[in-house]
Amino acid sequence: MFIGKNISETVKLAREAFESKGIDSPWLDAEILLANSLNLTREEILTKGNDSFPNENYKKWQDVVLRRMNREPIDRILGKKRFRKLDFNVIPDVFSPRPETEEVLSRALERIPENGRFLDLCCGTGCIGISIANERNCSGVLCDIDLKAVSHAKKEKKRLTPNANLKIVQSDLFENIEEKFDLIVSNPPYISTKEKKSLPPEVINFDPLGSLFCGLDGLHVCKLIIEQAPKYLNKNGWLLIEFGFCQKENISNLFSPDWTNVKQRKPWGAPRSEKDFFVEAQWSPS
Ligand SMILES: C[S@@+](CC[C@H](N)C(=O)[O-])C[C@H]1O[C@@H](n2cnc3c(N)ncnc32)[C@H](O)[C@@H]1O
Repeated sequence: MFIGKNISETVKLAREAFESKGIDSPWLDAEILLANSLNLTREEILTKGNDSFPNENYKKWQDVVLRRMNREPIDRILGKKRFRKLDFNVIPDVFSPRPETEEVLSRALERIPENGRFLDLCCGTGCIGISIANERNCSGVLCDIDLKAVSHAKKEKKRLTPNANLKIVQSDLFENIEEKFDLIVSNPPYISTKEKKSLPPEVINFDPLGSLFCGLDGLHVCKLIIEQAPKYLNKNGWLLIEFGFCQKENISNLFSPDWTNVKQRKPWGAPRSEKDFFVEAQWSPS
């Protein structure tokens, strides 16, 4: 199954199999997965198109094609995801980093002062906090309610930034946090339960539900973070929160007048019509 007389025909068979399951980018997925299965680059898949498929890879390839046909995301099949400058390991039961969050990270990197302290709230793999520590001279705390995420983020910290000054703790939002920071950044759960039916199988069947859903309007956790963050921010400290495209309520209205520079952001280079997806605000009580 799914093996052609040579490599390019094998790509074609996988592409057709993925197309039949309604996958958006069947050709790209087939090339990426085959390259990974054969330990080749994507370029080599093209230049070696006439080579025959190596028999010893037959079982592995078949397994990979069936997993993708079952709509398992590419990064979960490969077990890793590039996030800015680092490759994070992706494991079952922990949310897999998304490219849009790299933009929130870019902003966090601009906002964190030299030698500053930051909190990555709802850290998942730790992709935001570990990336900040990888690129800036600063220290911080990462936290998540889920013990599997906390344990995974600890391993990732040790593997990717062993010398970074980061503490990783289990905490329901700020429950176990005891200090103040220059920056709090969060990609919390923000999908409303009403949106459940519209999510693709790659998300609903593979990301942990606790990382996705957050009540009827998807804003419950965002509201709590905005309410409680002042207690944990130094004066003029920044709060950055990713939120959902589909949330109708204007999130800026949740900030009291003691917050300044409240701005909602669109994805980089997006047209005006594109919806905002993260908000930043500065804690400036009078
Ligand atoms: C959308 S994921 C984001 C993970 C990571 N920050 C990222 O960008 O890839 C949301 C994370 O929030 C965590 N979470 C959900 N509710 C929480 C809470 N009340 N307190 C702390 N973490 C929470 C989930 O376990 C999950 O890891």
